Amino acid sequence: MVNPGKLRLGVNIDHVATVRNARGGAVPDPVRAAKLAEQFGADGITAHLREDRRHMVDADIKALVAELSVPLNFEMAATEEMQAIALRHKPHAVCLVPERREERTTEGGLEVAREEDKLARYIAPLADAGCRISIFIAADPAQIEAAARINAAVVELHTGAYCDAHAEGRFEKRDVELERLREMSSFAHSLGLEVHAGHGLTYDTVQPIASFPEVMELNIGHFLIGEAIFNGLGPAIVEMQRLMDEARS
Ligand code: PXP
Repeated sequence: MVNPGKLRLGVNIDHVATVRNARGGAVPDPVRAAKLAEQFGADGITAHLREDRRHMVDADIKALVAELSVPLNFEMAATEEMQAIALRHKPHAVCLVPERREERTTEGGLEVAREEDKLARYIAPLADAGCRISIFIAADPAQIEAAARINAAVVELHTGAYCDAHAEGRFEKRDVELERLREMSSFAHSLGLEVHAGHGLTYDTVQPIASFPEVMELNIGHFLIGEAIFNGLGPAIVEMQRLMDEARS
């Protein structure tokens, strides 16, 4: 169950499905991974149904909605097809992300400022259906203001540039990105938005982000699924949560 007092960890299980789809069969099963994540303390599960179904497929989303007891954060592009799927399943949260077929992962944040009216119309039926609307954006004041104006409940700040700079050893750039994320977490919170963060986080990069008091949830996938190969998914989640709690205290 969600514990509002602590920084929540949402576990993204997309890449369990990536491995399954490499062989086209039924294993490893992302729903089994989601239930294991739950057992080991995940506060939520994130799954991204892409237009090209490269990892999660429609049946996975249906099974997750039916079988999870923690909230499902359903990531999707703002298309008519995805809106219909979300309205059918009514997940706890819908996280709108940009999507390009040729990208390997979600490379940037959603352009909210230029698409404000269109997005406001797009999210209205989803919000009416009871889904919390989360928008994945760059740590940019114009995007945050636009997300607040269209009445999103949550903004998830993209931590990819910060994590990439760390991985590449570009520490000055990393610290600039971190500072931007710190300021924008506080700015988004001041506008009444709940602040989440994610993308590319690892044991090495999670703590500075976890220490921002306005951040309520981190969504982490690729690193945890990779760690699971070596130490198991449960222990990887426990260690990530331990680091988050330590940074928070
Ligand atoms: N949050 C969002 C909105 C994402 O699109 C992703 C990647 O699917 C993540 C978090 C998790 O990123 P990673 O898999 O790099 O931890």
